[in-house]
Order: sequence, then structure tokens, then C-alpha cells
Amino acid sequence: MMQNGRWDCGNVSMADAGKEIHLAGWVDALRDHGEVLFMHLRDRSGIVQVVFSPEFTPPEVCERARALRSEYCVALNGRVAERAPGTENPHIETGTLEVLVQDLSILSRAAALPFGISEKAMVAGGAGGGVDSVAEELRLQYRYLDLRRPSMQQNLAKRYRIIKTARDFLDEKGFLEIETPLLTKSTPEGARDYLVPSRHYPKHFYALPQSPQLFKQLLMVAGFERYFQVVRCFRDEDLRPNRQPEFTQLDLEASFIDEEFIYELVEELVSRMFAVGGVTLPRPFPRMTHRDAMDFYGTDRPDTRFALRFVEATDIFADTQYSIFKQILQRGGRIKGINVRGQSEKLSKNVLQNEYAKEIVPSFGAKGMTWMRVMDGGLESNIVQFFSEQERHAVLERFGAQDGDVILMIADSSYELVVSALGQLRLHLAERLGLVPSGVFAPLWVTDFPLFEATEDGVTSNHHPFTAPHREDFNPSDREGLLDLRSRAYDVVVNGEELGGGSIRINSKELQMKIFQALGLSREEIEEKFGFFVRALDYGAPPHGGLALGMDRVASMILGTSSIREVTAFPKNRSAYCPLTQAPSEVSLAQLEELGLLQLGEAKPIPGVQEQQELIETLSWVSRIGLETDERPAILSALADARKLAEIVESRAGREEPLFAPLPVANRMREKGPAVNSPLAAGGELLKNAPAVKGNYFKVASILD
Ligand code: AMO
Repeated sequence: MMQNGRWDCGNVSMADAGKEIHLAGWVDALRDHGEVLFMHLRDRSGIVQVVFSPEFTPPEVCERARALRSEYCVALNGRVAERAPGTENPHIETGTLEVLVQDLSILSRAAALPFGISEKAMVAGGAGGGVDSVAEELRLQYRYLDLRRPSMQQNLAKRYRIIKTARDFLDEKGFLEIETPLLTKSTPEGARDYLVPSRHYPKHFYALPQSPQLFKQLLMVAGFERYFQVVRCFRDEDLRPNRQPEFTQLDLEASFIDEEFIYELVEELVSRMFAVGGVTLPRPFPRMTHRDAMDFYGTDRPDTRFALRFVEATDIFADTQYSIFKQILQRGGRIKGINVRGQSEKLSKNVLQNEYAKEIVPSFGAKGMTWMRVMDGGLESNIVQFFSEQERHAVLERFGAQDGDVILMIADSSYELVVSALGQLRLHLAERLGLVPSGVFAPLWVTDFPLFEATEDGVTSNHHPFTAPHREDFNPSDREGLLDLRSRAYDVVVNGEELGGGSIRINSKELQMKIFQALGLSREEIEEKFGFFVRALDYGAPPHGGLALGMDRVASMILGTSSIREVTAFPKNRSAYCPLTQAPSEVSLAQLEELGLLQLGEAKPIPGVQEQQELIETLSWVSRIGLETDERPAILSALADARKLAEIVESRAGREEPLFAPLPVANRMREKGPAVNSPLAAGGELLKNAPAVKGNYFKVASILD
């Protein structure tokens, strides 16, 4: 195959034998045989061996070839020839032929390399190179060299294919790719925002999006019905192995749909992407409620490639005399365990007691672990003598125990601690005992998440505040009740890794406000953070829902790479730092000055916002009523409504039709409750514009404005 007169190194074939061809690329490797010089020439398509020999190469070209070094960029002309029998190289696609060089130009020299790049041995049986032993920091610093390696090029090419497959599929299903802003307002995925200072509005900041969540919902309000986007998201969160500060989501949203639509769409989408890597996913994906995931696997992203499901044992020991269990159960605790089938040879008493019970399990947060080996139809351990006959029998039966099994139990007064420690133990054992089958992919939907999680003094959203609850008849001030609510959120998990998550959303303003209230947001905070969004819910928002897949994780899993950095062209390192560009870096004082960041006092309000504030001040003054800050958004919104009414009145002026009010008319009474002194009263702010004050009384005008 030829491109612009240049042949692809990797595609030269025996059918081309005898042809004169032109090649260009990089010197992958050199082997000097005195008079004869062999070289692996590499371009994006692959590698071909080229030979310089006085037999067919002009002397000045042979001379030039002597100066070649690894990674020089060169172009050459030569004739394709079959290799002599016995000199074929099975490591490369073109290993049965070579190119006999007639001319060579050195296009660009390369300095001594920080690490070897070549991955293919030049002779049969020879060891290939590779940078696996090279420090990742160095690879990232010279990423443009690291990316020259065929394996990295393949990773990025496959990633492109996977994303293209997703784009094509969603296009087929009527989804439109629509871009949303990167310079925006903070979004609520729970991580910290990256902020971008604005030069035009000193001391004001844009936030880079943690996801396009609010915009995609606004696109549904706007009537696009099916949207998707391959989009960069930014999260300044705690570093973990499969997280990057900036990463790519395949984000999608659809209107007039329910969970089943999303499950079917995403299963097909994910299956097609995995098929790019030659993986067939079993369908339909099994589903598991969040409660079952926690109860049986101790995590919201269970790895279901192997069993080791938890077994409930609390009831077995309800009347136990074994003091540790007894005390725990008296405190309302739980006992759960797993049966590690047929592993008693590998899990000796010594390993169980000294490694697991004393070291490993305490590192998972549990105080200890109870172990029992099953032998001769009975239990053997350091504590079974404290169990009654009935308890021993019940354990054998409940765990389905057979000789050679090992039963491990964790007991604690906290359910969360029991399942979390047992979940970590489960993964540790599976890894150690080689119970994770290779080449198996186990997808799973996790559903029915709790809507909220407890915080120290309230609740926070488990997914994000726009997720629909299962029930709407909740009391936003009843913390315990809130923690019992389930949501219409779902995660797609493969092999114990969360690849994506989403939910059916709220499309009613009342319900959305109730959720904000439950989250403890004041009206002012709601207005300040989400006012623009909540207003949109006033205008015929359709029912909608969606999901986002983490594409770095998807590509990494399909390609079986050790981290998402292997499928990202220019990733940050584990410390969120870029060794290549050395970002983040300090900036000049002049730049900070220009951005208004040197005198970090009170920010000046943005024009427009200032006018609004002044309007409120004026209204507050003329109406002689002091306003608390969290009352201001309500006044602002009432003003906006009044303005809307005024506009309608104006637009209808002179027309025949009777005017109707566009806003619901209702008497609004303050809710009955105990009398509360306004904090504004103490400071004299309340009724501050009253003409005179006498004792505890204010004088007011006979007609109140
Ligand atoms: P969520 O926060 O669950 O949902 O993110 C969706 C998916 O994005 C991936 N992901 C990450 N990948 C790499 N590095 C990170 N720091 C990182 N953080 C998240 C994960 C995750 O499953 N707006 C919602 C989606 C929705 O409701 O539609 C959202 O962003 O694979």
C-alpha cells in the first residue's frame, strides 16, 4: 500500500517482491554486520527490515548509513526482496522480506535517547525491547518518544476506534452530538472545581465542568430529545489509580424515556465498544440492587467474575456464649462470613491466624477475623470450642461447608464496617488464591441506590441532586426518612470497576426545590448556584434521563492496560502533575495583577448583578422592610415575574382581548409556627426606614407602601 508515493513499512508484502519502493520513518533498531548493515525501519503502520550492502547500495549511501542512530528520521528507496531461508523474523508482520536500499536521506537526527523505544527483536528468538522497566515519570516527561512505541500507538488507535464505534452507534439511534461550555459555573458531582479567573471581571471565576450535567438537562428542556457528547471533564479530587484530574466522558441524555430504555441502549453501546477489542459481553447485563451489592459483596461495584458471596451468620449466634460475638450482638452488631471453597491447603492455620486475623483484616478496618477450617465433617479453629454443637452445625449448613473449605467471619457492631472489611478481604483472597478468571468480563447494573448519604449534620446526594427519587412524598426535614429513600440511579460495572453512571432526572420544579431543601440549601444558595437551571424547569421540562461512561476506563479495560494513563496521550501522573509541560506551574505577578488576584478583597459585583442588588436595596428602602440575605432571591424572582407581567400588559396594550395573569394567583400565608424574632430587629435594621421610633413602637405611614 502506498500513500503519496510513500509505502507503509508494515504493509509491504511478498506480492511486492522485485518492486522499487520509497519508505520513510524512524530507525527502530540497527544490526551491524561489518560490510552489511541491517536496520528496522518503523512508521505508524509497522516495521520492515532494510539492508545496506556494497552489493546493491552505492558506496556514498553505505557511508551515510554508518552515521545512523536509533530514532533518526529517514527516507529511503530500495527494492523489495524475499529473505534468504532461515533468516525470516516471526516478530514482525513483514518478516519474510526485506528492502535492499539504493538511496537514503537523513531527514532529522535524534539525540541520545532517555530510554529505548524499539519493541521488536531483529532476529528470531531475540528478546524484544519495551519500556516496562522505565520509570513512568521519565516516560511521561518524554511522552512524544514513549508514544512512538507501537504498543502505545495501538492503544491510542484502538481508543479512537472504540469512541468512533460509540459515535456511529449513537448517530444510528438518532442522538445528536452537541458541545457544551467548558468555561462555566460550578457543577455538582461532588469533587472540587478547577477555577479559571476572568480578566474582564476581576476576582470572578469560571469553573471547568465536572460534567455537562446541567447543560445536557437544559438541552432536553430545549427539545433536542437525544443528545450525546464525547467531552472532557475536570475534577480536582483525591487521587486514586483510575482517576485523572481531566478525563473523557461519553455523556448522553434522552427525553420521554425510562430506565429500561437506558439499560437497553447502554448494553448495546458498551457491547459494541467491547467488540472492538474482540470481547463479547454476556447480555442482558445482570442487575443487582445497591442493597444486595452491599449485603453480598460489601461494595457498590461488585466484581462478579468469582463467587465468594457473603453469608449472613448473625442469627446463628443469637444466643451464643462466645463472649466476643455475644458483646457485639448485644450492641446490635452483625456477623457475616464467606466460604473459601477447597482452599484449606493454601490457607493454613498459620496464614489464617498470623497473616489474615492479625495483619491483613485489621488493615481493612475490622478489629479481627474468625476463621474455621472444615475437616472430617466438622470445624477446626482456635475458637470453635466456644461454639455450641447447634451453632457449629448451623454454620456448616448455612455455609454449605465441605471438607477442605475455609470459613471466614467478621463481626462488628457496625454493619458498614462488617461488609466493607469482608468486601476487601474477598478481593484480597481472590487475588491471592488466583480465583479471578482471566479473559472473563462480567458486566452488571447496580440499581436502587440510596438517594442520600449521611453527612455529619445532614445529608448529601449520593449521585447528584438532579436524580429522581423513587418516592416524592418525603419530608425534607426528616433526616432519617431521607436516608431511607432510594433513587432512580444506576451504575454500569464491569469486573468490579464502575465504568459509568446515570439516573432518571427530576423534571418538576417543586420536587427539585424539595431536594435542595433536603440538602440544606438556603433559597439564596439555590438561586446563586442553580437559579438558571431551576427556572428552566418552569417551562415544560420533559421527563428525561441519561448516563455518562468514563471512556478512559472503558478503553483501558477493553485493552487490558495497567492504568488509564496507558490509553491517554498526555496524562497527568499519579500526583496530578504533568512531567512533560511541568504543569501546574507558578505564574508571573503581572499575570495575577491583570486578573485582579493580587488584592484578594471583596469582589466587585458583575454589572447587572450590581443593578439587581441596588434594585432590591431601593425596594427594601421604599417598603420600609429590612430583608435577610436568603430572602433576596425570592424577591428577585417575584420581580422577574412582575416584569414578565408588565411586558405582557405592554405587548397587549390597545388590543381587545382581556388580560389574564400568566402567573398562578394565590394567597400566600406565612406558615404557622412559634414567633421568631428577626435578627434584623436587634440591629434596628427591621423597619429601618420608619420615620420615627418610640420605645418598642415604630411610627409608620397611615398607608403602608
Ligand atoms: P459520574 O460522576 O458517575 O457521573 O461519572 C461518570 C463516569 O466517569 C468516570 N469518571 C472518571 N474517570 C477518570 N477519572 C476521574 N476522575 C473520573 N471521575 C469519574 C467514571 C464514572 O462512572 N453527570 C453524571 C452522569 C449522569 O448522571 O448522567 C456523572 O458525571 O467511569
